[in-house]
Amino acid sequence: MPIDILQTHKLLATCEQALAERYTVHKLHEAADKDALIADLAPRLRGIAGGQVDAGHMDRLPKLEIIANFGVGYDTIDTKAARARNIRVTNTPNVLNDAMAEITIGLMIALARRIPQADQFVRQGRWPAGNFPLQSELNGKTIGILGLGRIGKEVAARAQAMRMRVVYHGRNRQPYEPYVYYSSLVDMARDSDWLVAIAPGGRETERIVSREVLEALGPEGCFVNMGRGTLVDEAAMVEMLQSGKLGGAALDVFENEPRVPEALFGLDNVVLSPHQGSATHQTRNKMGALVVANLEAHFAGEPLLSAVV
Ligand code: 8YV
Repeated sequence: MPIDILQTHKLLATCEQALAERYTVHKLHEAADKDALIADLAPRLRGIAGGQVDAGHMDRLPKLEIIANFGVGYDTIDTKAARARNIRVTNTPNVLNDAMAEITIGLMIALARRIPQADQFVRQGRWPAGNFPLQSELNGKTIGILGLGRIGKEVAARAQAMRMRVVYHGRNRQPYEPYVYYSSLVDMARDSDWLVAIAPGGRETERIVSREVLEALGPEGCFVNMGRGTLVDEAAMVEMLQSGKLGGAALDVFENEPRVPEALFGLDNVVLSPHQGSATHQTRNKMGALVVANLEAHFAGEPLLSAVV
């Protein structure tokens, strides 16, 4: 009996091929009439590969058993609604930790040393007229990590290799981690040179990096967002970067991606990145394989590899 699954957005060729070899795949993102496709599949659709699934979708797909999210963050899936309907949800943890941690440090160095500007300086032939201005370094500075989870810990390890002092804030102190814990994010921001947000999105963490937190980080401090655009009060951040009340920002995520506040484009104290934390061939292939492996385990009646619900 073939198993029908719905793919919600474009995936890697390797992942799409693996899905097609195992299931009858319906591509929602390619459907001219998405509602009609969902209505047509309702009596037989058992799985979803991708994300962006709300309670309304679940109600219209009564045979749905599993949503295999492509990504570690599953804030685009209503997990409460899934749990209530006995629908399993999986994500893609761990396989992207290294890629995420690498680019976090990369963006920090890019901001500290103004690497994008230095590149332009050379390309535009400005070097012969005088040297590029002196910049700052990471070593000897304090990095405050908001969200010492799987990725946060990899960022911490790399920050230590940069000879930075690592502190963290999260819901709970982690007694077996060697870093100083702050129960107050404002206090941590005040004591940090860099504030790196790598917490999950969703309602619980919405605008957790408030104006007050950014003020505590201050005119010499730099904010790095690798989690979700919703973690920060974006309007306050932009205004403070413009006025110099916040020293700098390296941003991989934004509130309304792919739209980015244009006010950031002209700022010298900002490095912008198009949500590419996990976007390497190596990591995206592993994420795709984990999506497929979770679906396979589910339909074989075996334990899921990375269940969140
Ligand atoms: C996205 C991410 O999933 O894993 C996450 O939570 O933010 C990314 O890897 C990716 O953009 C999916 O398209």
